[in-house]
Amino acid sequence: MPEPVRVLLTGRDGQLGRALVASVPAGIDLIATGRGELDLADPGACRAAVGRHRPDWVLNAGAYTAVDRAEAEAELAGAVNAGAPGAFAEALASGGGRLLQVSTDFVFDGEQGHPYAPEQPLRPLGVYGATKAEGERRAAAALPPERLCLLRTSWVYGPVGANFCLTMLRLHRARAAAGEPLKVVADQVGCPTATPGLAAACWRVIERGVGGHHHWSDCGAASWYDFAVAIGAQAAVRGLIDAPARVKPITTADYPTPARRPAYSLLDGSTTRRTLELEGQHWQAALAEVLAQIPLPKA
Ligand SMILES: NC(=O)c1ccc[n+]([C@@H]2O[C@H](COP(=O)([O-])OP(=O)(O)OC[C@H]3O[C@@H](n4cnc5c(N)ncnc54)[C@H](OP(=O)(O)O)[C@@H]3O)[C@@H](O)[C@H]2O)c1
Repeated sequence: MPEPVRVLLTGRDGQLGRALVASVPAGIDLIATGRGELDLADPGACRAAVGRHRPDWVLNAGAYTAVDRAEAEAELAGAVNAGAPGAFAEALASGGGRLLQVSTDFVFDGEQGHPYAPEQPLRPLGVYGATKAEGERRAAAALPPERLCLLRTSWVYGPVGANFCLTMLRLHRARAAAGEPLKVVADQVGCPTATPGLAAACWRVIERGVGGHHHWSDCGAASWYDFAVAIGAQAAVRGLIDAPARVKPITTADYPTPARRPAYSLLDGSTTRRTLELEGQHWQAALAEVLAQIPLPKA
């Protein structure tokens, strides 16, 4: 029997972390850590965790993900999003393990108007994207590409956690009951990515020992408006809501936020899908599967 592959996971209690824990493949010896076991803002603790557990892989799914709050908490966001991957990579460099660092479409500025390839230069617009980009750079400075997988994803959501899909379900219910429209930004385009498929991609990276820059999103493209409309329509068919609210498209300028967001941040995941031998799913099919995991409201 081959030796199990030892994986040190961070962000166990986050959206992706929970999907990863729920889908651990055979042959993986998982050490799953949350905030209580390992503070990602403490680089010494990150290095010590690698020294203590001697993992074959660190799967860094933990992150500071509050995009708007990061504008006012740059130091903390930087410690978690740049300091932790840097510390993991440095500790792994001497010990022999590998790092799977999960990153984001927000490392790009969204101005080129066609999907981003994995090797393109980074140009983040806000603090969150800048700290994630710095995390990529620090990890790449410490580890050779064959021992570092930088896996960018976008618009992550799942059946649990804080995400756009669950927020829209609540808002569809409330606005439909009040007979009011639900206003959603229609001029930011990207792709929703469901956590079960993203978790499967992460596990495949580890099983195959894949390194380099990679992109994983669900297939297709959407604006937040498209996503909100699909959530309402599918949730009504499934019985999660009585009826969808009317969704009214608005512009980014109509809905000012502290952080600037990319207008068009589609990730080209074609080479990654080929490398991982995973076909991926259209985002609407993935949405149906996520909604099927959400319990129906009590009658
Ligand atoms: N969410 C998105 O739309 C999105 C889009 C693109 C890329 N990504 C990337 O995908 C990955 C997974 O994101 P996600 O959506 O699963 O995020 P999430 O649900 O916000 O989970 C992040 C986890 O990191 C933990 N964490 C934050 N600060 C910590 C600290 N100082 N010490 C220890 N743990 C800490 C959080 O702990 P608590 O639960 O205790 O707060 C949480 O469990 C991240 O790398 C993120 O940057 C996300």
